[in-house]
Amino acid sequence: MPTTPPLAGGVTGPAALRPLLDTVLAALHDGAALRDGPLPAGGPGIVAPRTRAAAHPLIPDHGTGPHHALTTLVTALAAGAADPAHPHCTAHLHTPPLALAAAADLAASALNPSMDSWDQAPAASALEADLTAALAAEIYPHTPSPDAVITTGGTEANQLALLLARERHGPVQTICGANAHHSIARAAWLLGLPEPVTVPAPRGTLDPTALDAALTELHRPHLVVATAGTTDTGAIDPLDTIADLCAAHGAELHIDAAYGGPLLLSPTHRTLLHGLHRAHSVTLDLHKLGWQPASAGLLAVPDHHHLAPLHHHAPYLNADDDTEAGLPDLLGRSLRTTRRPDALKIAVTLHALGRDGLADLIDRTLATAHHLADLITATPGLDLYDHPTISTVLFRPTGADDHTVAAIRRTLLHRGHAVLGRAHTADRLWLKATLLNPHTTPQDLQALLDLVTHATTELLTHPAATTGAPHSTESDTPR
Ligand SMILES: Cc1ncc(COP(=O)(O)O)c(C=O)c1O
Repeated sequence: MPTTPPLAGGVTGPAALRPLLDTVLAALHDGAALRDGPLPAGGPGIVAPRTRAAAHPLIPDHGTGPHHALTTLVTALAAGAADPAHPHCTAHLHTPPLALAAAADLAASALNPSMDSWDQAPAASALEADLTAALAAEIYPHTPSPDAVITTGGTEANQLALLLARERHGPVQTICGANAHHSIARAAWLLGLPEPVTVPAPRGTLDPTALDAALTELHRPHLVVATAGTTDTGAIDPLDTIADLCAAHGAELHIDAAYGGPLLLSPTHRTLLHGLHRAHSVTLDLHKLGWQPASAGLLAVPDHHHLAPLHHHAPYLNADDDTEAGLPDLLGRSLRTTRRPDALKIAVTLHALGRDGLADLIDRTLATAHHLADLITATPGLDLYDHPTISTVLFRPTGADDHTVAAIRRTLLHRGHAVLGRAHTADRLWLKATLLNPHTTPQDLQALLDLVTHATTELLTHPAATTGAPHSTESDTPR
């Protein structure tokens, strides 16, 4: 007869977890050592069969036991990971989580509070309420009762922003820049709203003159969406000017600060977000420039009453008499029901590092991006798109066509040498480095550029050098 596996919680949970964690940590170490780079070499043709073999059979008749299963699968996943902790894994807004935030997330998994009713999360409910109010107050320091809800990320936060605008005004017309994240158009589709009107964003930021013209032409309630930290270039729209235009035209403003929002915590860089507090809602994503494991998104509003449309009654979770007796009802702080206590890892990180610790991480990361831009400028044969606003650096080999730029990226991926992104802007395809790793050194950056230069030379002199790399599965769609 199989034995009943131990549980993670209670006073006996930690003793049961400890040997399993030793196994997990050893497997993480061994997998990373086997990979020996930012991602596994060989592309999907090598990685998928290797992973399948390690996981086979996925549902055995008789279990292999916890240590064997953890060793096999965690090693395979770590060996086959694109690891953002490696300095050459810089494609996306895919953050390397802080060890302390991952440790806090383990506690969340062990305790497993669910945020949809107080009787599943007594302390976690209090922590989440205080943390969301405190983070919202960073964005809205001058309003009496700012608040925020925790989301699975920027996509869900943007959806909720459009939902709240629709609940206030009916079928609002969204207007966003061509630089806005794809989740805005998707949210409009999901909510049955008109397709967003797209305003040009030359050089990566929304053009206020074009926005003024669009607002003048449209005659129904509108929600303007501006971006503080675009996916492709990390640009920040002119937030204050856009807020002025919204005020003049009676439009509401949502700011997607999924990427750039944490700059608020840096005294050096917070001025980049001038005007953020004038938005009716703000998206923030701490699994980007906040070093949290996914997920850690937020939607902040200046007044907690703005969240009222999310209220939902489910008597089996939050009966009226329980609520009248003082039990908090957090079901209306999300569209989800069962919900992880993501506030824990965020609160632990803020506590452990403090404002100055987070500001240091942010400043260091932005300085790294500027250093990369300087290195590119100083490297013959490489062109820089622009100096970074936050930590995204676009560059390309001088004179290369778009096909070659795409092939360089795939070659580096296929060899397991680097994970660079791609962005199509200013009529050309660029290699994209989104720097989020505060440990990256100038030597790492030089080595990354050397890899690109070497691959370029190889591709231009021996185009067959990339045989085997996939060519047809790419898309320019931002993550
Ligand atoms: C500007 C912006 N907004 C929203 C999102 C979506 O965030 P998430 O992937 O956390 O849903 C992204 C993702 O990169 C983004 O860059």
